[in-house]
Amino acid sequence: MNDRIQKITSEIESFVASGKEELEQFRLKYLSKKGEIQELFKAFRDVPPEQRRELGKSLNALKKLAHEKFDHLASTLQTRESTNIGFVDLTRPAEEIQLGSRHPISLVNNRIINIFSRIGFTVSEGPEIEDDWHNFTALNFPEEHPARDMQDTFFLEKDPDVLLRTHTSSVQVRVMKNSSPPIRTISPGRVFRNEAISARSHCIFHQIEGLYIDRDVSFADLKQTLYYFAREFLGPNTQVRFRPSYFPFTEPSAEMDVTCKICHGKGCNVCKFTGWLEILGCGMVDPNVLDKCGIDSSVYSGYAFGIGIERTAMTLFQIKDIRLYFENDLRFLKQFTSAVE
Ligand code: PHE
Repeated sequence: MNDRIQKITSEIESFVASGKEELEQFRLKYLSKKGEIQELFKAFRDVPPEQRRELGKSLNALKKLAHEKFDHLASTLQTRESTNIGFVDLTRPAEEIQLGSRHPISLVNNRIINIFSRIGFTVSEGPEIEDDWHNFTALNFPEEHPARDMQDTFFLEKDPDVLLRTHTSSVQVRVMKNSSPPIRTISPGRVFRNEAISARSHCIFHQIEGLYIDRDVSFADLKQTLYYFAREFLGPNTQVRFRPSYFPFTEPSAEMDVTCKICHGKGCNVCKFTGWLEILGCGMVDPNVLDKCGIDSSVYSGYAFGIGIERTAMTLFQIKDIRLYFENDLRFLKQFTSAVE
């Protein structure tokens, strides 16, 4: 009998069940009334008294082992079933992972940076919180001068004045102070003005301003560079025109218009039937500004320009309302995935 017990013990220990049928076979073979262990208990009746003590112990241990093994097999099968391990349907189509797309402002921004990088402009950045000197005074806006009204400002602190920059010209001031000509750089970034929010204006918008300073830089260089930009950005047939304008930091100053991309100059409601769209302000850097920023204006000259990204993208994509950029409506944002590179 001892041999039988040993044999069944090792059988039970090495038993594996990969499904419910095998579990049931285990139960019938070892635990049922007609099972092998029950048979041994019956045979135990004929065991001589001197062996009873030893064999009884082994037999009870075997019975306990069989029950424990059964419980263990049953619970493993159940967890396997509930977590579905072993039942993964590999033919099921995968769940789609939604890919985001670039914001139209980033698309236009990157494209403009790319165009100017190709002709040697570097990219410079600066703080959004500025002091009065970098945003106004160094740029020839005297204190109390009405020119400051052109850029309605969010002041964070008065005297000394700390404010949210109204243009990225403040970055150009920093570049001029910290380096020496030749300077050829563009400054992309977010700017802030205290304007009522409407379809055409917002208190936050983006600009790319450009600056080129060297010996003998003339208005002809300015025109040629911006003409190159307009054709790269809007297509080879684009025409440009310059209208006189005023900025405190440039003299002479101009606004540049491009032929309307929608009607090709014939006149439509996007260009208000003029055939032209205004896309940027520009001019020759005022010698006062160069001197204030530590550049000798008797040796060097330069030009500057400033492009408003929101308005430019509105023209390019025929967007009617500037507020759409900031509302995070996916129906709007998804339309620009492949609009530009
Ligand atoms: N800084 C001007 C603005 O924000 C734009 C500009 C830049 C105009 C450079 C001329 C030259 O309105």
